Amino acid sequence: MNQIVVLNAGGQYCHLIARRIRELGVHAVVADIHRPATDFRGARGVIISGGPASVTAPTSPSVDRALYELGVPVLGICYGHQLLARDLAGRVEPGTTKEYGHAVLHASNGQLFRGLPARTFTVWMSHGDTVVDVPPGFAITGQTDDCKVAAMEHVGRRLFGLQFHPEVVHTEHGTEIYRSFVFDVCGCERDWDPRARVDHVIADIRRVAGARKVFFLISGGVDSTVAFALCARALGPDRVLGLYVDTGFMREGDTEAMQYLRTTVGDDAVRLADRSADFFAALRGVTHPEDKRAIIGDTFIAVQEDEFARLGLREDEWLLGQGTIYPDTIESGGARHAAKIKTHHNRVERIQALIDAGRVIEPLVEFYKDEVRVLGEELGLPHEVVWRHPFPGPGLAVRCLGADAPAGVEPATVTLPPGVTGSIVPVRTVGVQGDERSYSRMLAVEGVRDVEAAGALARRVTNEYRAINRVAMVAFERPGARFADLAIHPATLTRERIALLRRADALVTHLVRARGLYDAIWQMPVAMLPLGTAAGRETIVLRPVNSRDGMTADFARLPESVVAELAWALGELDDVDAVLYDVTNKPPATIELE
Ligand code: XMP
Repeated sequence: MNQIVVLNAGGQYCHLIARRIRELGVHAVVADIHRPATDFRGARGVIISGGPASVTAPTSPSVDRALYELGVPVLGICYGHQLLARDLAGRVEPGTTKEYGHAVLHASNGQLFRGLPARTFTVWMSHGDTVVDVPPGFAITGQTDDCKVAAMEHVGRRLFGLQFHPEVVHTEHGTEIYRSFVFDVCGCERDWDPRARVDHVIADIRRVAGARKVFFLISGGVDSTVAFALCARALGPDRVLGLYVDTGFMREGDTEAMQYLRTTVGDDAVRLADRSADFFAALRGVTHPEDKRAIIGDTFIAVQEDEFARLGLREDEWLLGQGTIYPDTIESGGARHAAKIKTHHNRVERIQALIDAGRVIEPLVEFYKDEVRVLGEELGLPHEVVWRHPFPGPGLAVRCLGADAPAGVEPATVTLPPGVTGSIVPVRTVGVQGDERSYSRMLAVEGVRDVEAAGALARRVTNEYRAINRVAMVAFERPGARFADLAIHPATLTRERIALLRRADALVTHLVRARGLYDAIWQMPVAMLPLGTAAGRETIVLRPVNSRDGMTADFARLPESVVAELAWALGELDDVDAVLYDVTNKPPATIELE
């Protein structure tokens, strides 16, 4: 089989690697690290991914050692590199300090580096344990100042280990390294193209559906829209039904995907249920992020039960369609709160009954998100629908922060460069440090030279002061409303506040599109704090980020002129007293504020 198998050692690295390989035009699948080696006999190559465990711990994930004897090329990355060393009689030492971040690799003429334009380049490291002795027969092919065995290989047995992560963007020549492994070492052919899978997927939908119809919950997001469009194409408009539940927390334009489906598939095939009153009622007075999420999830369940009953779909006639994509099908150990809403969607009692009875159809299970977008384009879906930024299930509700008690902005006591002033904003936002979620203060700074300096300041301050997990630049303060004089006022989720946030979000999206930046930014949450000169006055927070998968992210650098334009436009909105530009990476801050 012309396929690379990526063994999952925990965390999300396996998916980053598999996507990198697929981008090279070779099919890569993720498999449990504990599977018997015989399962991989037919693969062209096996990659053992990185993961958070330590190979020196007795219960750490291990491979079936027969893997090394199969004659199939094996590449160990980070944890996988250490596993190779341990299993083949090299030596791994538990790290006393953790090497994390950029490092300079000095590579030799190893097989994976042969085609590179340089032998000295930057790589991304993230490890505690270190390989100190290579196994017999192996050669060291790369070193950094802190890591003597940063790369090793046994050319005869086609076994390779890399301590660094070629799959992350911070590693120079990462793609070339994978290219060497996949094509030169494993001899793969370039034959994976999601576009070419459309006919196959459609045939599959017809086969699974038989004479039955397919029901979808659609959200306006790309996955459910593409999955629905595929089913409509496979089965025809009379045999699909999509239900769009309006929670009241959608973005402006979220109904575009629904409108598109109505126009192309048919009005009868897509129904809208406006249940916003249920959501606002359930959330009245609630301000804590986790409480909001739990209530939204529960309300979803109740509302869906209700709508199903109303539709009266006979279970023997209907299949449930879902936009589940490849990474959702694999236990990654990195399960996140993000899955909550989706999980709830999929767990409504009636849906669970369908799943148990094998009455669920998931046309996108073999694809990654970027491949789903390619499929969407192939199906002719509008660019705006296919390339919409990701949006969390709980929607604007988790971008509209509340407060129980009044509190004024306070001067920060942290050390700041000359000319820079800092204020502690008295709301807490969510962050992530290590595997821990934090809920801490935000620092707002004024007088910083530029966005690069602000980003560097954010990294330093969040490192030095654990009580601060987010740093933002003050991009606008209403004349007469000095930022340092603003205060938080008690507020909860109301239709009025959500309407203001929706308007702000639409304005930002419009301007960012107009400046040609929308497709260059991965996601740009626009959030709102009840921070102003009086009750009812607000602060808008811009949170543009770049990321591959949402697990880690860099804040996105916006040109100064664009920030100024956004600030000016938002300042025109009644009730907005200030605009902040969040310049924190993830970690230590999360992408969303709650
Ligand atoms: P955080 O805020 O954890 O977000 O850095 C990472 C990515 O996940 C999205 N997100 C969610 N998606 N339901 C979702 O479907 C949720 O509850 C949820 N919370 C966060 C977020 O937009 C970002 O892309």
